[in-house]
Amino acid sequence: METMRKSVLYSREAIRGRVLELGEEVSSAYEGQNLVVIGVLKGAFIFMADLIRALRIPCRIDFVRLASYGSGTETSGRIELTKDIETDIAGKDVLIVEDIVDTGLTLTYLVENLQARSPRSLKVCAFIDKKLRRKVPFEADFVGFTMDDGFVVGYGLDFDEQGRFLPDVCVLNAEK
Ligand code: PRP
Repeated sequence: METMRKSVLYSREAIRGRVLELGEEVSSAYEGQNLVVIGVLKGAFIFMADLIRALRIPCRIDFVRLASYGSGTETSGRIELTKDIETDIAGKDVLIVEDIVDTGLTLTYLVENLQARSPRSLKVCAFIDKKLRRKVPFEADFVGFTMDDGFVVGYGLDFDEQGRFLPDVCVLNAEK
């Protein structure tokens, strides 16, 4: 990845501004409620850290990790929970925090899995929504940025585990 050209898509300033707005949207939606924020590892860890600090309501946090089996950058649809939450979410208001919705397969699986545990409510906040790439219909309740195709790294997002540390979100250009 170091040798690939990349250009800034969302600057750290733009991200900061949008995350503050999202914090306000989420806070308004959950006023006075019992919020549990569940981050999807690994990609969502930076976004979630910023988002919860932009909330003006208290929350508890937990994490899941999912493995999707497929080739290269595509998920195959075969998804497994490899790290579960440690929180009882029955009767709670749950917000899943994800870095990217792409085909929609990962979140469709996770929502169904968590819904079976009878939360009071279950919503999804995605940092980036690649709407055009869906294989299954999926709508996130809160979205930071919407983009078309293109491979992005930074702000937690990786390309083959590289680039998560970058403070801006950058698009990778295929040609060197
Ligand atoms: C990415 C992303 C989502 C999923 C979205 O995870 O973080 O979890 O893919 O894809 P989908 O909508 O096509 O299912 P990845 O497997 O790259 O793991 P990571 O978060 O550890 O980088």
